[in-house]
Amino acid sequence: MDISKAMAEQLNRQMNREFAAYYSYLGMSAYFESLSLKGLAKWMRQQAMEEQGHALKIYDFLNSRNGLVELQPIPAVAAHYSSPLAAFEKALEHERGVSDAISKLRTFAREQDDQATEVFLNWFIAEQVEEEDVASEIVDRLRLAGDSKDGLLRIDHELGKRE
Ligand code: FEO
Repeated sequence: MDISKAMAEQLNRQMNREFAAYYSYLGMSAYFESLSLKGLAKWMRQQAMEEQGHALKIYDFLNSRNGLVELQPIPAVAAHYSSPLAAFEKALEHERGVSDAISKLRTFAREQDDQATEVFLNWFIAEQVEEEDVASEIVDRLRLAGDSKDGLLRIDHELGKRE
């Protein structure tokens, strides 16, 4: 069954949020690059690519259900933060916002009795649990490191191992 116009509109909005996350995380990666924190830069760039993947997942879903894809503008983003901790706090805040948006989106799908979209969104709900958990752990570790440059470099080294 083709997707309804109202549901497609909501999914297009979520796709835009995912592209905005991609852009925002790329800005954070650029900030880490400017500090020569190569590990954090690599980790965040990979996170940006994951967000692009989320957006394209929605893009494919819309196409497969004959929904109209609308590529709305992506807002400009910061490429400077007061500290690595501030950048990761922003990322965590963003992930919490995304979890909330996905949850509302699934409620909307249920109200529309659009079971295919509801099932599709389950993947995102599970993914958000993981994304919030990981971002929150990094925030905790950066808080623990405090002003210690050694601590920061250790975290940078460890995050740089992300494949
Ligand atoms: Fe795709 Fe991390 O939200």
